[in-house]
Amino acid sequence: MIVRTASSVEQTIGELGEISIWLAATPNQATDQWREDRLKILSADERIRHDAFHSQQDRDLYLCAHTLLRHALSAHTEIPPSSLQFQRNPFGKPALVSTTRGELPQFNLTHTKGLAACIIAGTRPCGIDLELVQQKAELLKIADRWFSAEEVEQLQRLSGEWRYEHFYSLWTLKEALLKAYGCGLLQPLNSFGFRFPANEHGTIELVHQEHISTGESWHLELYSPLSGYRMAVAIAERSGPIPPIRQYWPEF
Ligand SMILES: CC(C)(COP(=O)(O)OP(=O)(O)OC[C@H]1O[C@@H](n2cnc3c(N)ncnc32)[C@H](O)[C@@H]1OP(=O)(O)O)[C@@H](O)C(=O)NCCC(=O)NCCS
Repeated sequence: MIVRTASSVEQTIGELGEISIWLAATPNQATDQWREDRLKILSADERIRHDAFHSQQDRDLYLCAHTLLRHALSAHTEIPPSSLQFQRNPFGKPALVSTTRGELPQFNLTHTKGLAACIIAGTRPCGIDLELVQQKAELLKIADRWFSAEEVEQLQRLSGEWRYEHFYSLWTLKEALLKAYGCGLLQPLNSFGFRFPANEHGTIELVHQEHISTGESWHLELYSPLSGYRMAVAIAERSGPIPPIRQYWPEF
């Protein structure tokens, strides 16, 4: 079940469940104040990464994404956004540095062309991927290289914009799963695939799961958070059924 809420971070805290997805778009015309408010909650390392982007658009997206993540994690942990500390695993996946506050939530971040999203998933490993759907013929060559034979067939059966929509569904699912796993897979991307439900009540299945050595069973979801964007999440089912996932568009 998806509940879409536009609310302040403070309003949100009382209603948070175990798993939440947070989204934020960069403003069309960001003001200096907008930038200052966000820059001040980033770490020194994040500021260095922010400054290294050449375009103002990329700097604004970075600010938007990393402050969104800090606010979302703060809502789940009650640690102030600017006090959160991150470390990365050898493959680059960020995690929170442990504190005395008990178990810290698992999370993942994604950002693309004006939109950022993160998932916070309690004790469950998770991944999220967001893409702007583009209709470019070369995408189908990417599919030949990276998708399973069954997925390539699924694409060939579709025409026009449906083919591109489906390409991005498959692509974001693969990326979300890889990001949940967080350290690369021992098998190529085309050795596993996804099967889609016949109706909206079914679930997306990972096909040939035996080919990927994650040792987990994965809950997979697809969304269109804004017109033209596709987003996928992968959440480990390790500690029982997945509770309702709320979606927030916070104002901060
Ligand atoms: C690392 C990777 C997964 C990021 O995906 P992307 O589509 O380029 O970018 P997204 O916007 O979705 O995600 C970027 C965020 O993912 C997070 N991230 C970085 N490395 C990650 C990893 N290994 N696993 C999960 N999340 C990762 C970071 O928060 C990053 O944001 P930041 O750079 O602003 O800090 C991708 O570049 C990649 O390498 N894909 C190839 C598949 C693969 O095997 N990747 C190795 C990860 S298992």
